[in-house]
Amino acid sequence: MSGETDTRRIRIFDTTLRDGEQSPGASMNRAEKLEVAHALVNLGVDVIEAGFPIASPGDFESVREIAEVVRGATVCGLARCNPKDIDRAWEALRGAEQPRIHVFLATSAIHREFKLRMSQDEIVERAIQGVKQAAKVCDDIEFSPEDAARTERDFLCRVVEAAIKAGATTINIPDTVGYTTPSEMRACIGTLMDRVPNMDRAVLSTHCHDDLGLALANTLAAVEAGCGQVECTINGIGERAGNCALEEVVMALKTRQELFGCETGIDTRRLVPTSRLVSTITGMDVQRNKSVVGRNAFAHESGIHQDGMLKEPSTYEIMRPEDVGFSKTDLVLGKHSGRAALADRAHALGFSITAEQLQHVFDRFKELADKKKEIYDGDIAALIQQEISGQVDESWTLARFEVASGTGRQPHVSLTLVHNAQEYTTEVEQGDGPVDAAFWAVERLTGYQVVCKDYRVRSATLGRDAQGDVQLEIEHDGQIYKGVGVSTDTVEATILAMLNSINRIAAVEKPVPAADA
Ligand code: KIV
Ligand code: ZN
Repeated sequence: MSGETDTRRIRIFDTTLRDGEQSPGASMNRAEKLEVAHALVNLGVDVIEAGFPIASPGDFESVREIAEVVRGATVCGLARCNPKDIDRAWEALRGAEQPRIHVFLATSAIHREFKLRMSQDEIVERAIQGVKQAAKVCDDIEFSPEDAARTERDFLCRVVEAAIKAGATTINIPDTVGYTTPSEMRACIGTLMDRVPNMDRAVLSTHCHDDLGLALANTLAAVEAGCGQVECTINGIGERAGNCALEEVVMALKTRQELFGCETGIDTRRLVPTSRLVSTITGMDVQRNKSVVGRNAFAHESGIHQDGMLKEPSTYEIMRPEDVGFSKTDLVLGKHSGRAALADRAHALGFSITAEQLQHVFDRFKELADKKKEIYDGDIAALIQQEISGQVDESWTLARFEVASGTGRQPHVSLTLVHNAQEYTTEVEQGDGPVDAAFWAVERLTGYQVVCKDYRVRSATLGRDAQGDVQLEIEHDGQIYKGVGVSTDTVEATILAMLNSINRIAAVEKPVPAADA
């Protein structure tokens, strides 16, 4: 309860960097994750789930870096209920100002029987051991009975009671497969509150997936039933159909405050910038009609609605666009704009780049300003994204290229790349167009065979002089790597995106010798 009112403070636990990053195609490098973590702090989230440290060395390093750098929010790492996971999670989190270890173990009959092959007694014992081990090193322990929504209520109460007794300070109830409904969720939380004798010693939380499109409704039902924490992601990204969207739950609680009687610590004016930042960094577009942050969320098309809006906005508008961070103008910068103006726009767009990154972006901004007169927010976001995404080991860089194509002729690409301070050149005359030919040329020079799984070009802004923003997904050795490239020339943007993805492969593999020296 806060102040004189009866308003309950709901903690916002953001898992964009863990569950969100599990969405196919949403993987982020360290610099990208750090950028998102800064944006989440500026947004005002209470807890950042930064990753699953045991999952890979990259995940471990990202959690460690975020734990060391981020201040002003709890930094959490996920671990299964086993000694190695918990040790690794703590190793990554120990530098955090406010660390939290999140241990989970499946409890539903389906998971016990087919996945874990463990009895109820064994599950309880494993949960106790996991929580106790984590609680020895860290004061803040979250325990999640995975697939809780499909777990027998009596057994769920037993596990939760045991986990709290062992030292859990937050109990999270996940609807792992997005199966439950609001009335079931309300009943489940109510049962835990009524029947677990030590429930008052832990914060109850929920974590809802959106397989049936019920994640928000189920999360709100859990809040109504007494949950004090909600788990969510920016733009609702996450496993399969995703998680409850942060912007939706926050705006539902704010817009219907008289109904829910709850508040959060979120600065709602940062919602749109943060949504765009996550969309830019992950390459996952936000649908136009997406609640709260979609481009059409406040667009009134019908004449009757427009008439009502002009007479009194509240006729058709339940939230104000400025309250969620939509700005009325797309500020234009040009060749005379200075570094401070660029830094200001970068901040307004949700980025928190370092002075060194700003200098690189500023250099590219000046080059771009020579090519196109007006530079819009979309251009700036694309340049910054390129800077952050380029922070993989720059094994291969573009020196120069030429391309020729035309009706009835084979496309021709001449490409020179730099690798270990040496230039490599190749000529390619194959493919069904200049983009395909560029793919062949990059493959030949770098020696990496890749399968293109997704290739998207969109214009970063309006206008025919707009930059082409290429988002790429390639497969190599069974792994998916993404790549981004931006340029006013779409073939160049394609080559840059390919090199970006190949450099991501190179960062996890030994270098492959250049084929065509
Ligand atoms: O969906 C789920 O059950 C999870 C847990 C790890 C909390 O993501
Ligand atoms: Zn989940």
